[in-house]
Amino acid sequence: MAEGAGSVPGSRHRQNVCVTGAGGYIASWLVKLLLSRGYAVHATVRDPSDPKNAHLGRLEGASENLRLFKADVLDQDSLAAAVAGCQGVFHAACPVPTDKVLDPEAEVLAPAVQGTLNILQACSANNVQKVVVISSTAAVHFNPNWPRDRPKDENCWSDISFCEKNEDWYMVAKVIAEKTALEYADKTALNIVTVCPTMALGPLLRPVVNVSHEFLIYITKGGPTVMKNIPWHIVDVRDVADALLLLYEKEGSIGRYICAPHHISAKDLVNLLKKARPNYNYVNCDNDLDPNSIVTPLMSEKLKNLGWKPKKKLEETFLDSVEYYEKARLLQDIEGRPCRLPHLFHMAIEK
Ligand SMILES: NC(=O)c1ccc[n+]([C@@H]2O[C@H](COP(=O)([O-])OP(=O)(O)OC[C@H]3O[C@@H](n4cnc5c(N)ncnc54)[C@H](OP(=O)(O)O)[C@@H]3O)[C@@H](O)[C@H]2O)c1
Repeated sequence: MAEGAGSVPGSRHRQNVCVTGAGGYIASWLVKLLLSRGYAVHATVRDPSDPKNAHLGRLEGASENLRLFKADVLDQDSLAAAVAGCQGVFHAACPVPTDKVLDPEAEVLAPAVQGTLNILQACSANNVQKVVVISSTAAVHFNPNWPRDRPKDENCWSDISFCEKNEDWYMVAKVIAEKTALEYADKTALNIVTVCPTMALGPLLRPVVNVSHEFLIYITKGGPTVMKNIPWHIVDVRDVADALLLLYEKEGSIGRYICAPHHISAKDLVNLLKKARPNYNYVNCDNDLDPNSIVTPLMSEKLKNLGWKPKKKLEETFLDSVEYYEKARLLQDIEGRPCRLPHLFHMAIEK
């Protein structure tokens, strides 16, 4: 793998890499970074003509180095066309549901799990050298058997039965998809690493609010429900993009990596925002930290030891996000659309 630039080592050839779900929040920042480093990017989107993907074509370097491919992760042929000629693949495409999931198989499990398997098989068939699969700390945190006083590291996996019982289907999907990827790496010659970012925030490149921003908008506007005072792990989206590229470029990267540099309680988060922007309602939080929260500290040491240095301070990430909302007028009330906390975060309000 190239160390530090979008060219094949020892040659003048540019590297081609594919990013799945390229129009999404995190993937858009990754595409921007890859283009700035001289990679030629095959970007998959489900609908290239959808205006929500138009921002990709406006990224610096896109006119020379970006090709859009129409691909659904459940369609093998479309994936094969997108990865053909690529040395590397970043797999970001996955539904991140806002609402309560009613049909787990169709809404999340199939696209997350079969979708991951499909892209890995397409990579094997097309001699791709390395794949970076984006998992999530959703596949780490939800383990009631992990000792509360021991920070969670890469050995901690969310417990599938526990998540199923709580109908946390996104968590179930991320665990099975990530395990599928790591098992695939064990069984084949394909070099695969997985990364578990925590809640990513910071400015958006595409004008569509994803679930992590729905969370922060709810906190800022102040929804109807009192939130428990639980810890939240946060990472800046630009630091996630750096981590993804580092994992791709570093020869020595192997296995699973947690990417969760900061944590803050809900109450402290509200206070931090209030200090900088006193003009919003903000959500009401319990005063005392919830002693039973399943969310306990995470360690990102493995990623840091590989050379990842998150650049953004927590305050900067929050304020850059709010500044984006203000410019995009996302903090105004919309008639008939009450501000809701995405169902994904129901553990923050259910007592
Ligand atoms: N944001 C976070 O805080 C966070 C934290 C940890 C991990 N992650 C992971 O990071 C990845 C990106 O998340 P994000 O927050 O950037 O979400 P996002 O903005 O909602 O992007 C998700 C992308 O997946 C695509 N997608 C969904 N189903 C697909 C399918 N069947 N075939 C092809 N593409 C499909 C979506 O395409 P359309 O635009 O066509 O719908 C979209 O581009 C996901 O794997 C997520 O689990 C996110």
